Amino acid sequence: MPCNKFLPDRDIADQSGKVIFVTGGNSGIGYETVKALLLKNAEVYLAARSKSKGMEAIQQLQTETGKRAEFIALDLADLRSVRKAAEEFLSREMKLDVLFNNGRVLSAVFMDAAKDGPARDALIKKVGSMMAPITYVHPDRTLYGASKTGNIFIANYYAKAHPGVLVSCSLHPGLIQTGLQRHSAFNRFFAAIAFSPPHVGAYTQLWAGMTATGEEINGKYFVPVGVERKLSGSASDKALEGEVIRYLKEAIKGF
Ligand SMILES: NC(=O)c1ccc[n+]([C@@H]2O[C@H](COP(=O)([O-])OP(=O)(O)OC[C@H]3O[C@@H](n4cnc5c(N)ncnc54)[C@H](OP(=O)(O)O)[C@@H]3O)[C@@H](O)[C@H]2O)c1
Repeated sequence: MPCNKFLPDRDIADQSGKVIFVTGGNSGIGYETVKALLLKNAEVYLAARSKSKGMEAIQQLQTETGKRAEFIALDLADLRSVRKAAEEFLSREMKLDVLFNNGRVLSAVFMDAAKDGPARDALIKKVGSMMAPITYVHPDRTLYGASKTGNIFIANYYAKAHPGVLVSCSLHPGLIQTGLQRHSAFNRFFAAIAFSPPHVGAYTQLWAGMTATGEEINGKYFVPVGVERKLSGSASDKALEGEVIRYLKEAIKGF
């Protein structure tokens, strides 16, 4: 569906019986994603690296929605933690309908994580990955862009890895006022005057995860809201993509 007027409340159907996992769900776009899904009666796992922040968010979400998300501890910088989180999830659920890979990991952390390997698949139907443009203003812009390019490659990999079972896409949420700007007064000021509020940042991933068909999104990259964008620069470099995926596969051996 060409999606330039998406509103979660209006356009997402009731999600009773759906099991959904949101990484980095305690803040910003992740928080708003969890909130929109709770309001649609989904069973939502809110994964956060800090238990206190996660529980605080769950409490706040319960006040705002009347529904309670499930907490899972997950530090994306430590793949032992990722495996533990996946195992805990698998001990509690028989399926996973949608995974929102929303949590922010910068490149240095991404490379650390790569040493240990990705979490194993559950019965995941959709995987989404949040992207930033290479030019995004960030204290460590080069690493940030590189980590996001890596995310695109991983999303592309999963788009092909389990045909007919799993669909996967990558996306940019827009320029959004969130905790992402907390490290820089300039970025906070700039965001306050020019960026959209967090709930708007959740729209594209909610669209992709909850309303689009597999055919519409698999292996593609989107910008707000639900507009496909061709990849360019290093993100479109298939040789580099292959190299990164080979590197990651090698790095996770033994994990
Ligand atoms: N805001 C924008 O304009 C923008 C633009 C492009 C892309 N994005 C992407 O959108 C996603 C959501 O970011 P946001 O804007 O909502 O920022 P945010 O409010 O800072 O949220 C980021 C979330 O990721 C979590 N996180 C960071 N490192 C983690 C780790 N090692 N393990 C587990 N969780 C971790 C954070 O947890 P803590 O609270 O513990 O730090 C937080 O819950 C990110 O992937 C970001 O790169 C945002």
